[in-house]
Amino acid sequence: MPATPRIAVFAGSFDPLTNGHADVIVRSAPLFDRLIVAVLVNASKQPLFSADERVAMIRRVVADQPRVEVDTFDGLLAAYAQARGATVAVRGLRTASEFAEEWQMALMNRHLNAGLETLFMPASPECAHISSRLVKEIARLGGPIDGLVPPAVAAHLASRRLRAGATSI
Ligand code: PNS
Repeated sequence: MPATPRIAVFAGSFDPLTNGHADVIVRSAPLFDRLIVAVLVNASKQPLFSADERVAMIRRVVADQPRVEVDTFDGLLAAYAQARGATVAVRGLRTASEFAEEWQMALMNRHLNAGLETLFMPASPECAHISSRLVKEIARLGGPIDGLVPPAVAAHLASRRLRAGATSI
């Protein structure tokens, strides 16, 4: 009988995907048969990029990763993971201060879905200072984002900035 495929979900806002996210994807994908990068659609915060734009950017970045699938989700991650047959939620950890909240979220997700474990992937040192929020702020203020986001995302940010005018994105 074939073994049950090991499916993990890497959920997030990805507004936009950064090199930190890409690092987590590249390092965690080989641990599973399938890694689903799941873009949260209806966050209470207003995203800069639509879900479709975020999915399109991520698909370009992971095009060479055969185990990686990109999807959207709404509602509870625990329910989405169950619906997709995923037994692991991957979370990147950049700083020790993030751990408390992530730990609580991991326990709550396991409370909601006893079949869902969380895997914490420590950020590579060269990515530990990168966040989507800071990338957007730097881009908005006209600063350099080289090395912070994959080229496909940098191009998207640049075209958004051009369309919106020099001072806002
Ligand atoms: O990229 P982010 O914003 O750090 O991702 C956070 C995310 C999307 C993983 C988290 O907010 C989430 O899982 N949202 C879905 C709603 C949910 O399941 N809430 C209960 C969490 S215990």
